[in-house]
Amino acid sequence: MIKTAILGYGTVGSGVFEVIRKNKDVIRNKFAEGLEVKYVLDLRDFEDDPVSEVLVHDIDIIINDPEVAIVCETMGGVKPAYDFTRRALESGKSVCTSNKELVEKHGPELLQIAKAHNCSYLFEASVGGGIPIIRPLRTSLAQEEILSITGILNGTTNYILTKMETEGLAFDDVLKRAQEKGYAEKNPDADVLGYDACRKIAILTSLAYGRNVSYSDITTEGITNIKDIDFAYAKKLGATIKLFAKSVKKNDKYYAIVAPFIVSPENPLFSVNGVFNAILVNGNMGGETMYYGKGAGKLATASAVVSDVLDCARHIGKHLEVRWDADKLEISPIDGAVRRFFVRVSDTDETRIRSVFGDIDMVTGVADGECGFVTPEMTEKEYREKAGQYGNVIGMIRMD
Ligand code: HSE
Repeated sequence: MIKTAILGYGTVGSGVFEVIRKNKDVIRNKFAEGLEVKYVLDLRDFEDDPVSEVLVHDIDIIINDPEVAIVCETMGGVKPAYDFTRRALESGKSVCTSNKELVEKHGPELLQIAKAHNCSYLFEASVGGGIPIIRPLRTSLAQEEILSITGILNGTTNYILTKMETEGLAFDDVLKRAQEKGYAEKNPDADVLGYDACRKIAILTSLAYGRNVSYSDITTEGITNIKDIDFAYAKKLGATIKLFAKSVKKNDKYYAIVAPFIVSPENPLFSVNGVFNAILVNGNMGGETMYYGKGAGKLATASAVVSDVLDCARHIGKHLEVRWDADKLEISPIDGAVRRFFVRVSDTDETRIRSVFGDIDMVTGVADGECGFVTPEMTEKEYREKAGQYGNVIGMIRMD
């Protein structure tokens, strides 16, 4: 039996405990030696819960036990998860985590420590919950030059946008409902302002190119400015609106953005609705591949952690390479990115619109006293200048 320990018996940690126990025979069928949870670390007590048999309150018990080969860090946050992860890796124990914040902040450093101690640091569950995406990037797509990654990487915002579209509700009303049902956090800022998706695309882009993408270099806009009327315009265009987290390699430059996009039905991400997540990866040889599933949730996320545990269990004493150097990957200013823009203005003067924006496609008949149009391709900088020159802009959404 390969012995493991779980740090933190919260939602994901208790899920990992459940997956390893409930799927014991399934796991043994694929990995004959089997997995056992020797310890679970938590400050709290859990009377009448099977975890009480293996519960400990002191990290040293786990670090000092040579039988523990793999540690699942499911505590979240940076403190004390960073110290515990370092200590486990320095003791030669592999660490598998769902902790996106720690991975995004300290990924390259923790990978170096793992390498130096012949163990592994794996984090499949840190992006896209139960969706396999880190392993495909690390192994199945390792031969590809990645041209773009486009993800719906946040379930809360995808749920809100889907409800706005299907029920014609305003952002605030859907958010309130989502909070009542427990789908959205009490403080939803990280989700609705795009920060959660930003951390996730920073991790995926770092892995795609092997160098470190800084979260703060990514232009990030959330969904708080999306109005119900925007969906009426999108519908006229035969399209919908999704929060995309996107990185693109073009002419040896790298661009990254998190923002709402107008998406047409030709894009496979068009039909990803509700709390589901999906990631579309475009490789220079194999073309597009897409990964879809539950981006959050106890058992989905825990299942991804256990997939890493099995990978480590098959490679005890070896380092599983995840190429992610500390060197910075330069993200080019978004000003140079070229695309079309959907624009709403508070007048209907098509002649003036054309004189400023060029050969546009008008979208009329949605509301009195205003109109929408789709610009020809231009850079973000050109768009900003033209919007400033025109003056009456009341909304803009990028076209995918
Ligand atoms: N809050 C996140 C989401 C889940 O709504 O997708 C964890 O990353």
